[in-house]
Amino acid sequence: MTISWAELIEHISACQACGLRAGCHRVVPGEGDPNARLMFIGEGPGADEDRLGRPFVGRAGELLTKMIHSIGMERTNTYICNVVKCRPPHNRTPLPEEMDACKGFLRAQVALVRPKIIVLLGSTAGKAVLGDQFRVTRDRGRWVEKKGVWFMPTYHPSALLRDETLKRPAWEDFKAVREKIRELSGE
Ligand code: URA
Repeated sequence: MTISWAELIEHISACQACGLRAGCHRVVPGEGDPNARLMFIGEGPGADEDRLGRPFVGRAGELLTKMIHSIGMERTNTYICNVVKCRPPHNRTPLPEEMDACKGFLRAQVALVRPKIIVLLGSTAGKAVLGDQFRVTRDRGRWVEKKGVWFMPTYHPSALLRDETLKRPAWEDFKAVREKIRELSGE
């Protein structure tokens, strides 16, 4: 039997399985359409997300929202979450044990949403889902299909804010996502 959304959110909110909960303000489970065809997975909450309890609401979130619009979608038609649900101190990369502690929640979210396409934003999401050998510069832009779900790894929006030259390849990846959505809906 699969867990319900209400139970899952309760578990995520109460979780103390790693040290991150003690150092953050709010837990950021994720948000969006619980039946979305398209899902985004980022790394972990930053300062703005930690303050508001919502994923991707800071500068990187603004850019992600624009990119979602650029492929003709709205944030509310997608589901957005992170590998870890609590902010790592000073936005450091989550440790392997922190990602492991949160992995069951991510799996449960994917099982409940049942998206057709999952966009992996950056190295941490790529590694968490596709394995430790994942390298974003090498592997981005290439579809990976697992159990009927299509994964598109691409750069994290924060990386695009730091390095403008990554915007073009990221845009190519988003166009591929747009095409795949059309293909899968038989357009
Ligand atoms: N970066 C992430 O990876 N996730 C967020 O929610 C915000 C910034």
